[in-house]
Amino acid sequence: MSKAVQDALNQTAELPVYATPEDVVSALDPDYPIYCVRPHAIHRAARLFLDKFPGETLYAVKCNPAPHMLKALYQAGIRHFDTASLAEIALVSQLFPESVCYFMHPVKARAAIAEAHERYGVRHHVVDHLHELQKIAEVIPAHRDVVILVRLAVHHQQVVYDLSSKFGTSAEEALVLLAEIQRRGFSAGLCFHVGSQCLDPDAYRVAMQTVREVLDRTPVPLRCVDVGGGFPGRYLNHPVDGLSSYIDAVVAATRELGEAGESQLFCEPGRGLAEGGESLITQVQLRKDSALYLNDGIYGSMNEEQTGLRRPHRVVATRKFSAERTRFTVYGPTCDSLDVLPDSVELPEDLREGDWIEFGGMGAYGLACRTAFNGFFPNAFVAVENEFVADGSPLG
Ligand SMILES: Cc1ncc(COP(=O)(O)O)c(C=O)c1O
Repeated sequence: MSKAVQDALNQTAELPVYATPEDVVSALDPDYPIYCVRPHAIHRAARLFLDKFPGETLYAVKCNPAPHMLKALYQAGIRHFDTASLAEIALVSQLFPESVCYFMHPVKARAAIAEAHERYGVRHHVVDHLHELQKIAEVIPAHRDVVILVRLAVHHQQVVYDLSSKFGTSAEEALVLLAEIQRRGFSAGLCFHVGSQCLDPDAYRVAMQTVREVLDRTPVPLRCVDVGGGFPGRYLNHPVDGLSSYIDAVVAATRELGEAGESQLFCEPGRGLAEGGESLITQVQLRKDSALYLNDGIYGSMNEEQTGLRRPHRVVATRKFSAERTRFTVYGPTCDSLDVLPDSVELPEDLREGDWIEFGGMGAYGLACRTAFNGFFPNAFVAVENEFVADGSPLG
């Protein structure tokens, strides 16, 4: 068992439960960052997909592989997992022997393909190139129970991360790949990812047009169409429609597929399921005029701030704060000058050393992207029962 899996399994103890972040601070007086897990919020997001999405919802484990996240999703009813590595497959399979893993990375090591198939019973793989298909065919015996999905490249302007610049193929190439999958004795599917933090539900309709184009030109029957992730989280600088409107857009787009709409439908949300499930309590370690030095930052849980996401925040109400607010430059704990939030943050004007700030929207790509640079590694967890409500924000 890999060290990552072992570490994750060691963390499965139940989390201590507090009513509010204020209670956490008053009980622990923490000078280290603490993730506040909100299982009820994870449950709510999972139920939305399970109740509304007309197909299988695969949680994208990369977004947040913490056992408390996986367990909350499982308890809500999620049984299918989009896994990108053997370590993720091992983790999910150890925690939930009844679950189904899908190996959705278009580039895999031969040994990982073999072990996923033989040891963990994985039967779905993604390719976007003939050589990857050849590799799989040399490792796994051909069988129609093994489904190989061809990933289409789809570009949309209104996404924060375009995930088709690295992976995905053209409709033309997809036709060749589908024919080869069929010829080699596997079953075929199609998939795409509109891009992470998609700001426009119409992106799914546009992507589905490429699926339609391929379908119109291939004789190969499709076992499944996978619309990927992209379902957005709620950030200060991205007021987006609710997740329901994104699922509605997928449903409408699927209808336009006609007969092919009868293939099994998958989605792979990461952010859409996990974002609201955690916040992070940080502490001010020093104030210099209008600069604050916190105990977490860009190299820790706030990696995504670098690429333009602005997480909502609030002050933990441990005392009476001034109603007057001012903008602070916020630095993280490492010695690197890059460890600073790109935008200043509005907070009470009398904030001082020892105060705590809670950042919301930490469930997605927060702990998953943290590093131990300079020896700072946020790794404390509690469960919290209240809802996160940002200070004076439209998300509140
Ligand atoms: C193949 C694949 N599926 C799903 C996801 C999850 O995407 P999101 O978090 O935008 O829902 C990703 C993210 O990188 C991905 O690469």
